Amino acid sequence: MPDHPLARLFREHLEEIGRRTARALEASGFEGLLLHAGDALGVFLDDQQYPFKAHAPFRWWAPLLDAPGSLVHVRPGHAPRLVFRIETDFWYQPAALPEAWWPQAFEVVEARSPEAVRAALPANLGRAAWIGDDRPDLAGWGLAAVNPPGLLRRLDYQRARKTPYEIACLREANRIGMQGHRAAEACFRAGGSEYEIHQALAAGCGQREQELPYNAIVALDEAASVLHYQVLRRGRPAAPRTLLLDAGASFAGYGSDITRTHAFADGEFKALIGRMDEVQQGLCAMVRPGVDWRDIHLAAVERIAGVLHEVGVIRCSAEESLANGVARLFFPHGVGHLLGLQVHDVGGFMADETGGTLPKPPQDPALRLTRRLEPGFVVTMEPGLYFIEALLGPARGGPLARHIDWDRVGVLQPYGGIRIEDDLAVTAEGCENLTRGAVAPH
Ligand code: GLY
Ligand code: MN
Ligand code: MN
Repeated sequence: MPDHPLARLFREHLEEIGRRTARALEASGFEGLLLHAGDALGVFLDDQQYPFKAHAPFRWWAPLLDAPGSLVHVRPGHAPRLVFRIETDFWYQPAALPEAWWPQAFEVVEARSPEAVRAALPANLGRAAWIGDDRPDLAGWGLAAVNPPGLLRRLDYQRARKTPYEIACLREANRIGMQGHRAAEACFRAGGSEYEIHQALAAGCGQREQELPYNAIVALDEAASVLHYQVLRRGRPAAPRTLLLDAGASFAGYGSDITRTHAFADGEFKALIGRMDEVQQGLCAMVRPGVDWRDIHLAAVERIAGVLHEVGVIRCSAEESLANGVARLFFPHGVGHLLGLQVHDVGGFMADETGGTLPKPPQDPALRLTRRLEPGFVVTMEPGLYFIEALLGPARGGPLARHIDWDRVGVLQPYGGIRIEDDLAVTAEGCENLTRGAVAPH
């Protein structure tokens, strides 16, 4: 049988992260690593459990998403061992390893009880570190350390640089996510409610809600101004204006993070979306190795300020609006973040793997990435322009009020806001747009 297309990439991925892990272990004084998938979390005083999400450091090694209690044991020089926890409970379907590209890369040991998990590991774990939930029973395991910060930091730092396997997974997560976006847009055009658009998205992705990498933001009209809007209104809008959809899909534990803003009708707001799309594409063109992400963020604020001036929302120059704080009333978040196993992936502020933080610009406290880009980084590019009453309301009576044309705000505020977000993989020369590439004709 021919290899699955991902099989070779996955083997190379394990070799690469094995090398990185071996260096991190040696530098931290450990000889082995236990990566815990996490345990199923029970609801207080109930027999139900919250949807299970396997821990990201475990998923870096094994795309096993539905087997709480499982472990990966890494020892440099040995094949990684997967201790696959199977719950033998007649109430539920026991987890099974999929016929996929990855299980054969492991030495797999099945464990049908918590005791069997420990028994599947060497008796002496005195040089091994554990990453996962710090459970009371670990005291009896004889581990060298639980979640040692120095080792965790090194591994988090290393996760920013994705292997070709990880980029292939993120490419697929984007392809699936864009299928969902197309289905969701069609539902919006047919007059659907936020709830119906959400269901169309999930069906378009072929994923149940708990499989999506984060709660989709499905915002109609003014709600598009709420950055992490979480409501799914059931009522259909009488006269829909805007859909801001921030939603991704999952593949093998990796998630896409995609935003599109749609205007229902032609007109000024639709033209503004077009302008923001140009801004977003211009910022994407800045993405290449060596660029400081803070510079890209600053360019985003400058260009958005230019658009605000162009459409008459601000009365001062774009330059003044950067200095006096007006521009950031309309764009109060960071222009992007690292993406991977976690939607807001780890390591965004690390100066290097041993310590030190790269500071955020003081005027941009919401920025989530301050590192220089390297080949293999995957970042989102998500400039926005919003009419957020929680920020504009207080400004109405303050010293900044004279810099804003409130009539123009009044015209545009019912449309909520605009965000356009793509996922970009940094290459040796520039970047690959994983989101737009997913829909490009072949
Ligand atoms: N979906 C959350 C974000 O864009 O960061
Ligand atoms: Mn997003
Ligand atoms: Mn994002």
